[in-house]
Amino acid sequence: MQESIAALAAEIAAADLSAPAPLDSFRVAYLGRKGRLADLFDQLKTVPAADKRAVGQQLNALKQQAQARFDAAQQVLEAAADTAPAQPDFDYTLPPVPQALGTRHPLMLVREEMLRVFARIGFAVAEGPEIEDDWHNFTALNFPDNHPARDMQDTFFLEGYEGRRVGVKGVDSGQAAADDPDLPEVERALTTPTLLPSQTQKLLRTHTSTVQVRVMETEPLPIRRVMPGRVFRNEAISARAHMMFHQVEGIFIDEGVSFADLKQTVYYFVQELFGADINIRFRPSFFPFTEPSAEIDITCLICKGAGCNICKYSGWVEIGGCGMVDPAVLENARIDPEKYSGYAWGMGIERIAMLKYQIKDLRLFTENDLRFLRQFEAL
Ligand code: DAH
Repeated sequence: MQESIAALAAEIAAADLSAPAPLDSFRVAYLGRKGRLADLFDQLKTVPAADKRAVGQQLNALKQQAQARFDAAQQVLEAAADTAPAQPDFDYTLPPVPQALGTRHPLMLVREEMLRVFARIGFAVAEGPEIEDDWHNFTALNFPDNHPARDMQDTFFLEGYEGRRVGVKGVDSGQAAADDPDLPEVERALTTPTLLPSQTQKLLRTHTSTVQVRVMETEPLPIRRVMPGRVFRNEAISARAHMMFHQVEGIFIDEGVSFADLKQTVYYFVQELFGADINIRFRPSFFPFTEPSAEIDITCLICKGAGCNICKYSGWVEIGGCGMVDPAVLENARIDPEKYSGYAWGMGIERIAMLKYQIKDLRLFTENDLRFLRQFEAL
């Protein structure tokens, strides 16, 4: 028995407890209910009565020793686990991936600003289709068929409509085709013989004045609308011209509207957008859909009116056209020109954005060059 105790004492003293796994085995092997110490305590009953007390004390002392070693080793391991760095999932020292916030396009910034200015004096927004018919782009706006005024706006016509003006089933059957319930609605419309030939021609709208016609045809009077949108012309692309650009159109129709109202609206708009020290002039002009008509010029913002190559040394730049809605246009929309009158205007968004931000090349708006677009980040 004495030998067993001495051997166990030596083993306990020598055990390696520097890691969690051996520490656990140590607990099971020596301190557990079926461990070596428990074994020896069991054997105590075989010890002669006279020695029992002394051997029992020895065993108890050894158990305390083992427990003390175990406790101390466990404390050391726990303290080490607390201070050891967690195994990192990734490298926290890498630089962060930048978050690209994106910017609003300068044309949209200017469009919103223009609409906000007009909203303050009661103009609500209306929109119309970019693929239009000849009626809304030209005929209803008082451009007669084959009139040279159509040349002012070089147009993209859509193919496939021009041969079908009087009916897919032939000239004489036009009405029959128009009434044929088996034909799709668009075909029936195209074959209505009462339509003028020009009414069935489809095209990309050359101006937003098309939407004027649409609101006059469909909305109750009085009408007070602003109409932003994209327009298309068959132009060679350069720093000053593009085949696609944007306009903001406006129209006001009521009883007793005069040119004085138009002027006041334009003064208000220009001063809100560019400041009070900008001069405005109305230059007599011609549009088939207005009478009288004028171009709106403002002080050149680049040279402040002194003359530069942007304003061709005149000190003035044009921002749009305007006029009193022609009585024939009112009649085309079934509005009585004896009772009602109105004014309208159309302005280029690109032109205004170029003046506002001193942009010298129209192509920058559509090239998607981030070096250009990022300059509008904070706006
Ligand atoms: N539609 C014209 C253009 O694109 C601009 C214009 C002029 C619009 C006079 C108008 C207007 O509403 O009254 O050149």
